Amino acid sequence: MQSTLSKARITALGTYVPERVLTNFDLEKMVDTNDEWIFSRTGIRERRIAGPEEFTTDLCVAAVENLIKRYGKPIQDVDLVLVATTTSDYAFPSTASQIQARLGLENAGALDLNATCAGFVYGLHMANGLITSGLHKKILVIGAETLSKVTDYSDRATCILFGDGAGAVLVEYDEENPSFLSSYMTSKGEGGVHLYRTGLSKQMNKQELQNPGFMVQNGREVYKWAVTTVPLGMKRLMENSDFTLEEVDWFVPHSANLRMIESICEKSGFPLEKTLWSLEHFGNTSSATIPLALEKGLREGKLKSGDKVMLYGFGGGLVQAGLLMNWTLAG
Ligand code: UT7
Repeated sequence: MQSTLSKARITALGTYVPERVLTNFDLEKMVDTNDEWIFSRTGIRERRIAGPEEFTTDLCVAAVENLIKRYGKPIQDVDLVLVATTTSDYAFPSTASQIQARLGLENAGALDLNATCAGFVYGLHMANGLITSGLHKKILVIGAETLSKVTDYSDRATCILFGDGAGAVLVEYDEENPSFLSSYMTSKGEGGVHLYRTGLSKQMNKQELQNPGFMVQNGREVYKWAVTTVPLGMKRLMENSDFTLEEVDWFVPHSANLRMIESICEKSGFPLEKTLWSLEHFGNTSSATIPLALEKGLREGKLKSGDKVMLYGFGGGLVQAGLLMNWTLAG
């Protein structure tokens, strides 16, 4: 995808995380682990956990309400709601349809998409395509998860990573000042066995699961795949654009594990100082990590309008998706 083709711009951002904080010290009381192990292996100190009656739709609505406040005007002209999530309140109806009803978006279509931790980037890519093609004018893209509800809190290698959160952006038609510069995405379905949540089929790992409905992860395999695949993908993403890595102001990878981010930066030659992540206080929130990191970048006065930003999602599937963008929002 080349820059001249895009006619879509990000015009607003909103985020939300639940109130309850689960620290590494809290986890010490739940499984055989400790703060030192978790922090040194992942960079995570704490994560947010949704209440028993708080679900992904609730997080999405709160993130969109935050977006509306900052946008400063109603969003009743949104014509599509796209929600990237793996933890929809129901198998169906979709989270997007629930949001459309809760926010009274009477002119909007609604659908969920599942690309795990790359979902927010895939959502932006689709919104750009639909707006640039002229099919839509204003799309709400949301990445949101309540992973705590599908986390096995007896599996110490998995439960220390995940948390809950949501981020929403508005993507609008704008021919003059588009946000989207280039994209690159791939899938390696054979690796699906390394990170999955059981559904109707129990065939994924050819074995009965002890805790059906929970996430199962071979962290080491996902780690190895990501730190070899993402640096190559970053290179391809830049080749698809008119820019070089040196011209990128901020790299915003999926916040899975700080050690992975460090390794990706080292292998790609991208400076860690120009990288934004959200994992220290929110853990791995899958499709929400990237908007939460963008929020952090804005709040800390790092991310500025006009910056070149490289978003890069990767995770279960296995899937990866990168977008090079012209950042168009002020803090
Ligand atoms: O969103 C994308 C999806 N997920 C990811 O990207 C996850 C990627 N992977 C990772 O982040 C890391 O693989 C983990 C943090 C999950 C695990 O770290 P690791 O350095 O790969 O540890 P490991 O699984 O190789 O285990 C090393 C040791 C084992 O003990 P032994 O067999 O050497 O005695 C584990 O039992 O660490 C042990 N261990 C723990 N010890 C204390 C595993 N989890 C824990 C724990 N506390 N929480």
